[in-house]
Amino acid sequence: MAVSSFPVTRLRRFRRTAPLRGLVRETRLELDRFVMPLFVAPEPLVNEALPAMARFDLDGLVHEADSLAASGVRALMLFGVPADKDEEATGAWEDDGIVQQALRALRPRFPELVLLTDVCLCEYTSHGHCGVVVDGEVHNDRSLELLARTAVSHAEAGADVVAPSDMMDGRVGAIREALDDHGFSSTPILAYSAKYASAFYGPFREAADSAPSFGDRRGYQMDPANVREALRECALDVEEGADAIMIKPALPYLDVIRAAREAFDLPVAAYNVSGEYAMVRAAAQAGWLDERAAALESLTAISRAGADLVVSYWTRDLPSWL
Ligand code: PBG
Repeated sequence: MAVSSFPVTRLRRFRRTAPLRGLVRETRLELDRFVMPLFVAPEPLVNEALPAMARFDLDGLVHEADSLAASGVRALMLFGVPADKDEEATGAWEDDGIVQQALRALRPRFPELVLLTDVCLCEYTSHGHCGVVVDGEVHNDRSLELLARTAVSHAEAGADVVAPSDMMDGRVGAIREALDDHGFSSTPILAYSAKYASAFYGPFREAADSAPSFGDRRGYQMDPANVREALRECALDVEEGADAIMIKPALPYLDVIRAAREAFDLPVAAYNVSGEYAMVRAAAQAGWLDERAAALESLTAISRAGADLVVSYWTRDLPSWL
């Protein structure tokens, strides 16, 4: 890099005014790249401290999707909170499960909205783990069939993209094969490839009612200390047929986003998770931070690190902020 030094070079010249800064800005936030997570449940539940983490019933969901679409939001990621939970996560894959009903309500009304679904079992199992439990352990291979069944039922109900977040080995391949067998060879898989066993999922687990009833998720989600392993996870998912890979959480893992961006040519997504949103909300509530400024800076940093698309609870605020 050729540089001439001060006083010839003065980097402040292009910082003097907003239009000058705009000309040389390297990273821009565009609404097209953001995905709004939404929780659908039999009963609505308002969340005053974290408004983006409310639960909607089907009518409320349609209403919310309507206002999001009208404001310019392009993509929604659906999470379900079922009426009943069991060992087989029946609510995840049954034809009239809560997410399947939500898809059937939204699909015909909003042909222009991209509908993504989280494919996981934790919201639907009685024990709150992301797979089938056998002898006190989450059984990898026995979970694959249920995950694949869930993905197919989402596609049948109208999902545009399925996003497996369970972290079982081999699930992307199992889902790809099942989708293809059922005539959904055009449905892309956005794999939560590097999903860490993180302390930042707390508010989500409350919203989705998905906290594990025993143990934790460290036996299947990644160790926060590892980045080389994250690249192996991504490589395996790509080999199994992932169309895009996701890193989650986002802010504490910007190095992982950057590493994935450099190693792979397919789209890289980042999930700006509930704890990242909650920290800023809480600090803003205490008068310590400006929510809009802190949120936009966070989302800019995630994009700068290399994320092409971003799942964020602030997506609903972006139309008025940008
Ligand atoms: C489901 C799932 C989780 C999140 C997304 N999908 C929770 C978990 O793994 O415990 C977390 C998202 C967030 O915190 O916003 N497995």
